[in-house]
Amino acid sequence: MRQRVLFVCLGNICRSPTAEAVFRRLLEQEGGGLEVEVDSAGTRAYHTGEPPDPRAVEAAARRGIDMTGLRARPVEPDDFERFDLVLAMDEQNYRRLNRVAPTRHRHRLRLFLEYAPALGRRDVPDPYYGGATGFEEVLDLVEEASRGLLAALRQAP
Ligand code: 4NP
Repeated sequence: MRQRVLFVCLGNICRSPTAEAVFRRLLEQEGGGLEVEVDSAGTRAYHTGEPPDPRAVEAAARRGIDMTGLRARPVEPDDFERFDLVLAMDEQNYRRLNRVAPTRHRHRLRLFLEYAPALGRRDVPDPYYGGATGFEEVLDLVEEASRGLLAALRQAP
């Protein structure tokens, strides 16, 4: 069965497009034919239509991950209908999503780092106002949780 996963952060220009690109590449390399539709969105519309932050694009490119072509969009009302999993990058965005999630679909909302329990962390920190190390940390956390997510989707019925 085809599954659909939506990654969500605040602006959809740093963390969630990074997760989209990292997870898509992991699927290509290790997905073993698993069919997953992947997208990302932001809980705020400030950056709608913009490409990802150049710092995120460059950090990802250094790890061989292509983020070109992605464009920011806000979360839409029917995202909880369209996606089986809506994965928030941090607790702030989780709370925002929880307020708009229809009750019947609330189980679709998770914190992304729940797929990396060994990290003992809940948030992928917002790198927007910080330095270059923030973008490396985002990639480290996202790569780890992506591996956990792939393992979970392989188990899904
Ligand atoms: P993101 O980072 O949520 O990871 O895309 C941010 C991007 C933009 C802003 C904040 C966070 N902003 O305030 O414009």
